[in-house]
Amino acid sequence: MLVIIKDDYEAVSQEAARLVADRLHKKPSLVLGLATGSTPLGLYRELIRMHADEGLDFSKVTTFNLDEYVGLPPDHPQSYHRFMRENFFDHINADPRFVHIPDGMVTEIEAHCQWYEAEIERSGGIDLQVLGIGANGHIAFNEPGSSLGSRTRVKTLSRATREDNARFFRSIDEVPRHAITMGIGTILEAQDVLLMACGDQKAAAIQAAVEGPLTASAPASMIQMHRNAFVIVDRAAASRLSDEHATALEEAVLFRRPISGSHPDTA
Ligand code: GLP
Repeated sequence: MLVIIKDDYEAVSQEAARLVADRLHKKPSLVLGLATGSTPLGLYRELIRMHADEGLDFSKVTTFNLDEYVGLPPDHPQSYHRFMRENFFDHINADPRFVHIPDGMVTEIEAHCQWYEAEIERSGGIDLQVLGIGANGHIAFNEPGSSLGSRTRVKTLSRATREDNARFFRSIDEVPRHAITMGIGTILEAQDVLLMACGDQKAAAIQAAVEGPLTASAPASMIQMHRNAFVIVDRAAASRLSDEHATALEEAVLFRRPISGSHPDTA
């Protein structure tokens, strides 16, 4: 795991965007796993800027979003379909045929989840999965207690998550109680995993994810099992980490450049 600590949200967003752009340059038909929430907004803004100013090309990219609320139609202001359109897809040149977001309105949910998993497999698997983290340590909507081997399925949202996300709705009663989410097993199969977090309200969750024991009570700790996990955080989110994490050679590891001289500690 490589933990990179940046000064602030802007710097986190830019570093994350550099990583996505790097992978996209190396593989124009990148299969990109995408996240919602306020954390990746800066990443999307920076990628949109790179598309406009530098011609970053998404035309061959396939995307898979992590999750969607059950019961919200795609045009609902708080649906993740709408979020992704407004904050990303409307501003880049991704081919809508290659964009995948779970459908929160399907009646055959189980079949839909199986189809989603099959589509990921058919695409050749996710190359780079972007992740945020909930204050309770959830990734996507894998709430505490989710199993390591879980696949795309319906999850009941915890009270804590519904309270956290109530800020986007008129009241907590409007926050859906269920979501379709990729499983932890699904997420861990991505070639690279990029976890982003900012702000001191995420500090405990980041400490548990990076330094805590591997436990289903802190679902993000499962990324310790991943061989290419990158954690990009601001100083506030890193404030509870006890170890020196950033290394002078982080660039080489992040962008897979040859390393000369001494070796970085990337365990
Ligand atoms: C939601 C999403 C997660 C996201 C989390 C944190 O619960 N399902 O994927 O990581 O919110 O959101 P924020 O970045 O707004 O703190």
